[in-house]
Amino acid sequence: MTLRMTPARPQDLDALVGLEEAAFPGDRMSRRALARNINSPSLCFLVARDGKALIGHALVAFRSGSSLARLYSLAVLPGLTGQGLGRKLLAAAERQARQRGADRLRLEVRADNTAAIRLYDKTGYALFARVPDYYEDGQAALRYEKALSRKGSR
Ligand SMILES: CC(C)(COP(=O)(O)OP(=O)(O)OC[C@H]1O[C@@H](n2cnc3c(N)ncnc32)[C@H](O)[C@@H]1OP(=O)(O)O)[C@@H](O)C(=O)NCCC(=O)NCCS
Repeated sequence: MTLRMTPARPQDLDALVGLEEAAFPGDRMSRRALARNINSPSLCFLVARDGKALIGHALVAFRSGSSLARLYSLAVLPGLTGQGLGRKLLAAAERQARQRGADRLRLEVRADNTAAIRLYDKTGYALFARVPDYYEDGQAALRYEKALSRKGSR
């Protein structure tokens, strides 16, 4: 695999819609939202590519004047999970957040998403809240936060 992490481009839209459909059973970003997110100055939309294939994404949101960034989405194409890609995308998202002046990254994850919860646990995220009935099917959200160090990344 020749892995590259680059900003998402408008011509990635079809592949991003496909990734969204493949990776998430519900609560997906619509095509319109994806298109908007590619162009947003307050977001960093990273994609992982293997050659021409788009195989993952990470989306980080920023608010001006705030040192708190939010990991809005993270996804790896099913079939390519379990090979360290999620961890690499998360590390790249953290680097982008630091570069844009954030010192903390927050995220929400479904309480039944074992794979993602393990990934966040293993990479230094701390659970700070549980929000009942957060997702469209009534599932709770777990809220995690990580302090971003100035040097290095995991
Ligand atoms: C969550 C997700 C991004 C992880 O990506 P990935 O490429 O499989 O993750 P990695 O291979 O880098 O694994 C990193 C760690 O995650 C955990 N993990 C990954 N898959 C797991 C699984 N199926 N079960 C349990 N733990 C798992 C492991 O702790 C793993 O560390 P280890 O290899 O040292 O044991 C991926 O499963 C995915 O896209 N899921 C669907 C979308 C989603 O739920 N996104 C998160 C929204 S908050």
